[in-house]
Amino acid sequence: MLRYFTAGESHGEALIAFISGLPAGLRVDQTFIDRELWRRQQGYGRGGRMKIERDTAHILSGVRHGMTIGSPISLQLENRDWKNWQEALPVGDGDPAHHKRVASPRPGHADLAGALKYNFAEARYVLERASARESAARVAIGALAKSFLRELGMEVLSHVVAVGAVSANAPVSWEQIQNLSNRGEILLNCADADTEQGMKNEVDKALKTGDSVGGVFEVVAHGVPPGLGTYAQWDERLDAQLASAIMSLQAVKAVEIGSGIAAAAAPGSAVHDEIGYGGGGNFTEFTRTRNNAGGIEGGVSNGEEIRVRGYLKPISTLRRPLRSIDFETRQPVSAAYERSDVCVVPAAGVAAEAMVALTLSRCALEKFGGDSMGETLRNFQGYRAQLQSY
Ligand SMILES: Cc1cc2nc3c(=O)[nH]c(=O)nc-3n(C[C@H](O)[C@H](O)[C@H](O)COP(=O)(O)O)c2cc1C
Repeated sequence: MLRYFTAGESHGEALIAFISGLPAGLRVDQTFIDRELWRRQQGYGRGGRMKIERDTAHILSGVRHGMTIGSPISLQLENRDWKNWQEALPVGDGDPAHHKRVASPRPGHADLAGALKYNFAEARYVLERASARESAARVAIGALAKSFLRELGMEVLSHVVAVGAVSANAPVSWEQIQNLSNRGEILLNCADADTEQGMKNEVDKALKTGDSVGGVFEVVAHGVPPGLGTYAQWDERLDAQLASAIMSLQAVKAVEIGSGIAAAAAPGSAVHDEIGYGGGGNFTEFTRTRNNAGGIEGGVSNGEEIRVRGYLKPISTLRRPLRSIDFETRQPVSAAYERSDVCVVPAAGVAAEAMVALTLSRCALEKFGGDSMGETLRNFQGYRAQLQSY
C-alpha cells in the first residue's frame, strides 16, 4: 500500500517527506524532482520567502544507484531561512527573548483555531506547521509518483483557470498544458496570453492595495486507463479520493470534477457524455464525444482525461490587515502581518498535481500490485490486453 507523510516547520531546519510502497526498480531522477520543486516556487505574486529558498530534495533512504529498492523512501528539503530563525525557533529551551510571537490571529489562517486547540498562548507554532511551505514536501514525493505513473503511460500537469475575477473560458487541450509546463518562466500558468495579462493585473491591484487574491487551477491527468478506483466502497471511489487529496491543500476551499459545478444547473442531456464505438478510443474501442464527467463515472476512471479543479480562497495574511484581537491583552488590534505571498494559484496547481499523482499511484498499485516495476508492468500489460480484447 502506498503511504506518505510529511513533517517539518516552515522556519525549522528542514521539511521531511516519507513515502512507502513504491515498487523496487523505479528510476529516480533528481533533476526532475528539483524541477518540480522549482515549479512550485514560481508564479507572479509570490512573497520574499521564495527568493530565499531554492528547494532541492536530499534523498536519505530507499533509493540506491538511482533506483528505488522497495524500502521506505525518506527525503529532506533544507529550509535556507532556518539560519535566520535558529534562535527564534530552537529545538532546545532557547532564550524566550528571541521568540517571535504571532500576537494577534489572522482571520482565515489557522492561528486562532490552532491556538485554542493546542492550548498555545499565541500562534507561532500554529503558523509554523499550517503554512503551505509544507506543500514543498508533497511536491518532492509527488515527483516520485509522477515518475511511477509515467512508466504506465500516465502524465499529470496543471494550468490556471482564474485569478481573482479574471478567468479563462476556452477549453484548454493537453498539448497546450504540456507547452505551458515547458516554459522557462511561470507567470500565472495560464494558456491564454491575454487572460494571463488580465490575471497579472489582478495581482498588481492586490499588491498595490495591500490585499490578496485567490483563483482556480485545473489538474489534468492524461493516459489514465479505465478502472482506477471503485464504486464498491465509499472511500475507494476515485472522485472521493481526489477531492480529499486536493482539499487537503492549504487554502483550497472547493473541488470540482469535470464540469461538476455548471452541471448542477444544466439538464442531463447537456451534461452526460454520449458513448460511441469504433474508430479507436482510449484503451478500448468505446469513444466519447465530450468529457463533462472529467474522466470519472461511478467513482471509477473511464479512460478519458481526468480533470479536477481546486478553488483557492484569497491569501489570509494581508499587508492591510483585518481586525483581530491581541492574544495577551484581548484588546482589538490589526491582525498580525508576516512576509507573505499575495497570489499562489500556479503554485497550488503544482502542489495539486503532486496530490493527484500520489492518489493515482495509490489506486494503480492497488489495482496492479507488484513489488518490482517489472511485476507491476507485467500486470498492467495484462490488464491492457484484457481491455483491448473486451
Ligand atoms: C502554495 C501556497 C502558498 C501559500 N502561501 C501563503 C502565504 O504566504 N501567506 C498566507 O497567509 N497564506 C498562504 N497560503 C495559504 C495558507 O497556508 C492557508 O490559507 C492557511 O494554512 C489556512 O488553511 P486553509 O486556508 O486551508 O483554511 C498558501 C497556500 C498555498 C497553497
